[in-house]
Amino acid sequence: MKLTLLNEQETELLGAELWRVLPEKCLVFLHGDLGAGKTTLTRGVLRAAGHKGAVKSPTYTLVEEYTLADNRHFFHFDLYRLKDPEELEWIGITDYLAQQSLCFIEWPVQGKGFLPEPDVEISLQTVDDGRSVEIKVHAQNLVNQLTVNWKNKDILL
Ligand SMILES: Nc1ncnc2c1ncn2[C@@H]1O[C@H](COP(=O)(O)OP(=O)(O)OP(=O)(O)O)[C@@H](O)[C@H]1O
Ligand SMILES: [Mg+2]
Repeated sequence: MKLTLLNEQETELLGAELWRVLPEKCLVFLHGDLGAGKTTLTRGVLRAAGHKGAVKSPTYTLVEEYTLADNRHFFHFDLYRLKDPEELEWIGITDYLAQQSLCFIEWPVQGKGFLPEPDVEISLQTVDDGRSVEIKVHAQNLVNQLTVNWKNKDILL
């Protein structure tokens, strides 16, 4: 599924829709160049989930953890500065991913070989003054199951 996101607000709005439709436990890869909107989309998810504080990019810390509405957990990874994918093992990546949590990972290519296949893959790209986004659902139990409401239309992810 592909959409155009005209401005930052629309990127956050898509994040809010994702919060509405994604299951409690879900691994999401975020692809796209520097500044493509990966953190903005993540912020949209967190805002919709009631998070009031800042959403900082975990560029140096690798991961930021949030406890959200209904006691749901959210992990936001940014692997841009990961020097060696093996570092993921040292921080206990398998323990993070085994938890009942929504997990968004920016720059997953940096963790190649140490990350499982994602349930959902999102690719953002700069187009003129806006962004285009492509969402691919991989998890068998989610294929043809997720519908977002976008500009008053139901769109199957
Ligand atoms: N749909 C959009 N149209 C125009 N600008 C947007 C859109 N979505 C986000 N932006 C802007 O893009 C900029 C970069 O966004 P963001 O920090 O989310 O990128 P990123 O993909 O996380 O980058 P990085 O890889 O460096 O972490 C922000 O200034 C944001 O306001
Ligand atoms: Mg980012």
